Amino acid sequence: MTDSRALRQYMNLMTSSGISHLPTVTLPKPVAAPGKVLASRLKGANAPTRRAPVNKTGSQSRLMSPDRLAPNSAQRPDVMETTQSLLEQTFGNAEQKAEGLSRLADSVAACKRCTELADTRRQTVFGVGNADADIMFVGEAPGADEDRQGEPFVGAAGQLMDKIITACGLKREEIYICNILRCRPPGNRNPHPQEAANCREFLDGQISIVAPKHIICWGTVAAQNLLGETRPVGRLRGQFLQHGDAKVMCTYHPSYLLRNASAKKLVWEDMKFFMKDLGVDLG
Ligand code: URA
Repeated sequence: MTDSRALRQYMNLMTSSGISHLPTVTLPKPVAAPGKVLASRLKGANAPTRRAPVNKTGSQSRLMSPDRLAPNSAQRPDVMETTQSLLEQTFGNAEQKAEGLSRLADSVAACKRCTELADTRRQTVFGVGNADADIMFVGEAPGADEDRQGEPFVGAAGQLMDKIITACGLKREEIYICNILRCRPPGNRNPHPQEAANCREFLDGQISIVAPKHIICWGTVAAQNLLGETRPVGRLRGQFLQHGDAKVMCTYHPSYLLRNASAKKLVWEDMKFFMKDLGVDLG
């Protein structure tokens, strides 16, 4: 398929999904398959330079040391042994990271700290995607569909998120996706602060293992919890904030967009701002 045909298909997809403010996309020069061009761009321009620690064998690890994690699960005495040992390890490649995430997911599946959530969940929803991703998405908590399928963002909000991902020229498989909570709050209520605190070590573990260069917080709950902020997402968007080694952008939650279509143009502005930092001009 030619680049321009693929582009037309993206545009049609976006229009049919109700995103009305379509960008003027400047395509990268067609020197390789689009995925490859993008992948190399994501590794390159404007991405913050990671000051990676050097491990004993001299190869670079992208793991943040526990004391550099912004919140303090590394110092909390109640942090599970598995998480603590994972926080102290280095993960040199995608395979090791996938293995680390899998061990952490086992701890999550056994977690019963939030009694109400543990009693009402069908399963825990850990996270999904590329263990070695440069981009991480953080949402709020699983909903009914996610609770049923065991994967974040698979319901209506997830489908809208997929369209946003596609419109940016990204692929879901190249991103790592997780939530503030790993269990569904009954009736999709907001997470209680204690639940977010209980789940924090798992989020910290995922960030530490994946070591993304960029994080997008979808919605106020994700933004406030990840960053320890009190401002709503409307005040946090439009800028990059820092969390450990990652640059963080906050934008509206796709569920909010499903209820407030007029906010789609704001999210699109945010995504253009975000992609520009990766060296991709979406117009
Ligand atoms: N909303 C979220 O915040 N996360 C999900 O996984 C699904 C919906």
